[in-house]
Amino acid sequence: MHQLNFLTEELVKQIEKDYKLPVYVYSEKRLLEAIEKFKNFPSAFGVTTRFAMKANSNKNILKIFNKNGVKIDASSEYEVYRAINAGYKWEDIQLSWQELSKNLDKLLDLWIFFVATSLEQIKAVWNIRPWTEIGLRINPWVWSWAFKAISTGGTTSSFGIWHEYIPEIQKLVSEHGLKVSKIHIHIGSENTPESWVSTANIWLNFVKEFESVTCLNMGWGFKKAIMPYESDADLQAIWKAVAEKVRDFYNETNREIKLEVEPGKYMVINSGSVIARVVDIVDTWDMWYKFLRTNSGMTEMPRVAMYWVQQPIIILNNSETTKEYVVVWHCCESWDILTSKLYDQETIEPVTLKEANIWDLIVFEWTWAYNSSMSMKNYNSFPEAGELLLRTDWSIVQIRKRAEIEEVWRNEVDVEV
Ligand SMILES: Cc1ncc(COP(=O)(O)O)c(C=O)c1O
Repeated sequence: MHQLNFLTEELVKQIEKDYKLPVYVYSEKRLLEAIEKFKNFPSAFGVTTRFAMKANSNKNILKIFNKNGVKIDASSEYEVYRAINAGYKWEDIQLSWQELSKNLDKLLDLWIFFVATSLEQIKAVWNIRPWTEIGLRINPWVWSWAFKAISTGGTTSSFGIWHEYIPEIQKLVSEHGLKVSKIHIHIGSENTPESWVSTANIWLNFVKEFESVTCLNMGWGFKKAIMPYESDADLQAIWKAVAEKVRDFYNETNREIKLEVEPGKYMVINSGSVIARVVDIVDTWDMWYKFLRTNSGMTEMPRVAMYWVQQPIIILNNSETTKEYVVVWHCCESWDILTSKLYDQETIEPVTLKEANIWDLIVFEWTWAYNSSMSMKNYNSFPEAGELLLRTDWSIVQIRKRAEIEEVWRNEVDVEV
């Protein structure tokens, strides 16, 4: 059975007294430990870490990253503004996104580093500022294998510029004086370390195509061990292998290539929990399933609902007996279910938990990434949950208030009908 990750039972009870549930709690200590890990990579010519801020965008979390020298990978203009609002300087932000923005001129004027993800975006940049230094996100014929929904490479993916357009890009940039200084690749999440190392050569071949490139951004996308059947990628071993490839590239070309990474999940997923409550227990007769209904769901934890992954669940009570439960959530949606088979929403898979009572506290672990930021808040009109930070001195501060019900309809305009 799973144990609490970084919280203690006393803290959970204290939080229950002081805040409305469900609520997110993040551990500052875990976050700082993860940042430290990323500072110590072996490298040939340097590694810069950017936080893929889509994973969790709370201002205070960004402030912690900023204070500790982690730069930003933004995936929309709005993420850029959010990072700025949290204190980031423009030059510490890289933007690569799906939209051909009407505001590109403003963004370029502000000196963010722009990574073009389509031929049209390249053309838009030279129309605005022909001499700009840009990056290129390339879609190689390689993708993350774990599960289609988390892959962002290959023929079925619209992310990045298809690699066979490279000759066209070369023509475009040389005709218009753009300088390509970075190649950016991200083939999706949950890559194996072996695939990452073996693909580094393919990425370096893209670098070879552009004389002016000095930086290779290898994206990220490693599984962090969440469930007992998973294991952490050995970052040091991966980096040693990648650093060797970069050194080989130098020996061959005399070009020193700096690396960049932009982790989301790996860096932060173990730093967060959601505290909620069991709000009912129902069954489909004795020989079928026993369901624990909880007062949380895809409103707070869309990652599980969208990708059918699993996460640890802990019931807080003194029960000495266990039971098999299907844990379901509070939304009126058949897929708002926590305990399905991995990557297979059609098959429910009961889990063994302490025998639960209605109103018991329930903690969902490893919920930091792609949850609060991806939230399907307000579905069924549930107000947005609050966020708390457990500081290194064990004090708790609120970093986002829980929304009031009026905020759910705040922007609706009352017209006569
Ligand atoms: C461009 C880009 N970089 C980095 C990441 C981070 O990936 P992960 O959270 O799997 O580490 C993502 C995630 O979707 C991404 O789209």
